[in-house]
Amino acid sequence: PSSIQSPAATQPDSDGGEKYAKVNWDELDFSLTCTDYMYVARFSAEDKFSPGNITPYRNIELSPAAAVLHYGQGLFEGLKAYRREDGRIMLFRPDQNALRMQMGAERMFMPAPSTEQFVDAVKQTVLANKRWVPPHGKGSLYVRPMLFGTGAILGLGPAPECTFLVFTSPTGHYYKGSEKAVNLCIEKKFHRATPGGTGGIKSITNYSPVFEALKGAKAKGFDDIILLDAATGKYIEEIASCNIFILKGDTLSTPETLGTILPGITRKSIIELAKELNYKVEERLIPVEDVLAADEVFCTGTAVVVTPVGSITYEGKRTEYRTGEGAVSHKLRAMLTGIQTGLLMDSKGWTV
Ligand code: COI
Repeated sequence: PSSIQSPAATQPDSDGGEKYAKVNWDELDFSLTCTDYMYVARFSAEDKFSPGNITPYRNIELSPAAAVLHYGQGLFEGLKAYRREDGRIMLFRPDQNALRMQMGAERMFMPAPSTEQFVDAVKQTVLANKRWVPPHGKGSLYVRPMLFGTGAILGLGPAPECTFLVFTSPTGHYYKGSEKAVNLCIEKKFHRATPGGTGGIKSITNYSPVFEALKGAKAKGFDDIILLDAATGKYIEEIASCNIFILKGDTLSTPETLGTILPGITRKSIIELAKELNYKVEERLIPVEDVLAADEVFCTGTAVVVTPVGSITYEGKRTEYRTGEGAVSHKLRAMLTGIQTGLLMDSKGWTV
């Protein structure tokens, strides 16, 4: 985050009943703005379920021996709450985040909240922070559920206790300033995931390994990086922060989820919407050459929604792609955000 705003700076007026927190809604980006409340539940490794509750947003205390700190036993999720024109607040497919957390918890050897507890925790956290949900059309309240090993342990093994925590932050565009199209480069040296590793779950360990490459690319003016498969270096896998799609003719392709690709909820939703628009959709291995020969490229993710890619630079050569109103990414983004914000009818039952 480029800035952090604390709740103390934005407490309600003395009557305490204001509809909105004091935020400049027109300036929102993806920086952290701390909100009023968070949800916390603790699970012991034997006792698979314990109820949680809403508490004021604050720092958490951890043992220096907490498993998350040295063995990286942690998962996170991301989803958004949108304010509709009529003022009601909607979540997009929260059950899918719950299922993905459960899948990750199994792989990282942690007890996980049930889908019911997960969705209820998200609803409670959003409602407790409802004055931070941006006005319709101005952004969304980003919800960050996390599950991590808080129990103290020294020898290698899972934590005796885990914490499920949900916090929120109002957000605007992830690539603020590059909303119309992002410029990417293909990273050859560093990889995000390896076969048999944790690339297919939303493990906290998947993200910092690309910080060095990302920093280098940003210093050269790129918005993000495309990572290649670690086994051969021939196929594209993901962008550091999201999934990727390419369009050639009327065929849309995205890397198949064979364990090194995050099964994105936006990715899955876009596949369904593209099929409705009669595009052929393939989940397959995508060689770099296919990306360079594509008509269009775009990224999908909770944070980035659907963002067109204007150019990709590979081995010093820049390739440009179609963007703007005639692009399929434009149509798909309008369909998806229409459903998410209540402007279009949700015939799929995706919103809550
Ligand atoms: C999301 O899109 O919600 C993510 O978790 C990606 C993160 C890098 C912002």
